[in-house]
Amino acid sequence: MSKRILVTSALPYANGPIHLGHLAGAYLPADLYTRFHRLNGHDILHICGSDEHGVPITIAAEKEGVTPQQIVDRFHTANKAAFERFGISFDYYGRTSSAMHKKTSQEIFLELYNQGVFKQKVQQQLYDEEAAMFLPDRYVKGTCPHCGYEEAYGDQCEKCGTSLSPTDLINPVSAITGNIPVIKETEHWFIPLGDFQKRLEEWIYSKKEWKANVMGQCRSWLESGLGDRAVTRDLNWGVPVPIEGSEGKVLYVWFDAPIGYISATREWAELKGKPELWKSYWQDSDSSIIHFIGKDNIVFHCIMFPATLMQHGNYNLPENVPANEFLNLEGQKLSTSRGWAVWLEEYMDYFEADLLRYALGTILPENKDSDFSWKDFQLKVNGELADVLGNFVFRTLTFTQRFFDSKVPALSNPSSPDLQTLDEILKQKDKIEKAYRTFHFREAILESMNLARSGNRYFTETEPWKTRGENPEACGNTLHVCLQITAALSILFEPVMPSKMHTLREQLNLGKQFNWDSAGTSLLETGSTITPGEILFRKIEDEMIEIQIEKLSKSVIGQPQAEVDYPPLKSEINFDQFSALDIRSARIIAAEKVKKSQKLLKIQVDIGFEKRVILSGIADHFAPEDIVGKNVCVVANLAPRKMMGTESNGMILMAEESDGRLRFIETDAQPGSTVN
Ligand code: 2FM
Ligand code: ZN
Repeated sequence: MSKRILVTSALPYANGPIHLGHLAGAYLPADLYTRFHRLNGHDILHICGSDEHGVPITIAAEKEGVTPQQIVDRFHTANKAAFERFGISFDYYGRTSSAMHKKTSQEIFLELYNQGVFKQKVQQQLYDEEAAMFLPDRYVKGTCPHCGYEEAYGDQCEKCGTSLSPTDLINPVSAITGNIPVIKETEHWFIPLGDFQKRLEEWIYSKKEWKANVMGQCRSWLESGLGDRAVTRDLNWGVPVPIEGSEGKVLYVWFDAPIGYISATREWAELKGKPELWKSYWQDSDSSIIHFIGKDNIVFHCIMFPATLMQHGNYNLPENVPANEFLNLEGQKLSTSRGWAVWLEEYMDYFEADLLRYALGTILPENKDSDFSWKDFQLKVNGELADVLGNFVFRTLTFTQRFFDSKVPALSNPSSPDLQTLDEILKQKDKIEKAYRTFHFREAILESMNLARSGNRYFTETEPWKTRGENPEACGNTLHVCLQITAALSILFEPVMPSKMHTLREQLNLGKQFNWDSAGTSLLETGSTITPGEILFRKIEDEMIEIQIEKLSKSVIGQPQAEVDYPPLKSEINFDQFSALDIRSARIIAAEKVKKSQKLLKIQVDIGFEKRVILSGIADHFAPEDIVGKNVCVVANLAPRKMMGTESNGMILMAEESDGRLRFIETDAQPGSTVN
């Protein structure tokens, strides 16, 4: 364990509010980790802030007809406040429009520039003559050259996931004016990631403890070979390129945003009155850096940013990047444009932060996408927080109040179940601790709740309501043990529910002097007084949940039709062209993921007269085991095509909904039937 830990959480774009997907991806796990280590007395610093540059910001500003500065000011303030209300305990929340950030990112750019690392290249770029600007990244839309999706962005096709350059798009259109752009020459600086390939491979493959999902993405990038990546853009919003003659050019947002972690740490140090202190977190070898992010940020944190820092030479590289997968909502992909999201600020208008911290903590998408549903939230609060933890605390405290005059009874001549139960506190503490250290937060929370479960079982089995009359010493022992468990729980659950556990400790009169290891000791002295107060967890009524479900469905249905982005109709074909397609019903008889591919499934279908293999880019949407047995439609006379070394013989037809969800065209017809 390093002496010092720097935790960073992905800087959210300041172009919209925070939702549950953000929390589950980075901020809640980062906060659990940070609070756990703080309780252990470690020197841990949690840094975050607003990502205020890049095309997402300028497009949001254009949509609203305001300036980018107005957009970032609004969301920086709102998001910072929402995190605070939710109990995310950042040590510092910076912003990438600050003077310190400009200085830090320009310094790092210049260092690499002066070392002669960047390649300067003249590029053909798309230009909107009416708007008089180049069209980087999301300023241009068009057809993806890989999968034919007609709404692909200039930086990425959201359907097949391929990274693109604006000039890769077929039929590109400006997202500002809708005009067809022209090609114009421009000059940019590139980081030649290929030159870093060996060093990155050595470093990444040495990380035996990285999560499989993170290592998998890194491997796939490394195996496809790294190329040059532009680090500048033609835009007037961002950190200006600090080189003479580069007016109108700024640093690429993914070059400057991660540097935001460094500039925010510098600002934190200045505020502390120790301007050099940031260096111990970024440059000392006895310090570790942990980046908490969502899976869409992996390449930037594991490849691009480390390459920059490696080359710079003076910085520590991350020890771990425990990226999470995505959170779905009520079985559907979260979609902010469709309004299919639960916004943190709105949640807080109805429920307490700690309830969501617990419920979300138990379903964090640590290894695969997970799903949040309001019914499940209610079940967790009512069935676990109220019925297990709340019930245990309530029965322990009220029994002590009624029959022991609110004083902790002595432990005298304990029975072996008494001693075993006390011992269980330590055993659970060890398990929970190990889970926190290794980023298994779901497990940490589950094991914390298991201690409350054991407490309830012990209370029931030792029957203090009976021993009270028959064997007062045994009754006192039961309550002594239960009170020690309650006290331990108030510490073990502290990272998850800081506010509730504060209240509980007040009821136990525990004071402020405690740390993680206190949880294994006799925290409550015999004879000390407790002060039971409000019930910790109240059940959530069905109506409260129905309000949320209705709100969600209204926010989607209530959207004006124009908001749904229907792809434009393709050009007309004649009947012969249609008849040339041979569409058949088919049965999926086997499916597996294609090795080294994020997207492709290798699917075996029975089309009546033969069986064949079709590759389909749907691995993000369906698990192979879930699609076997489906009767679907396939284009059976499509020319074979080789992908990732395997031949695909046909295409499975899919319908795509406006939020990007895919559905099979299912049929009851016998395999091999023609579809006309
Ligand atoms: O994906 C995002 O929301 C980015 N704004 C994350 C940036 S993380 C870091 F590099 F700043
Ligand atoms: Zn595509």
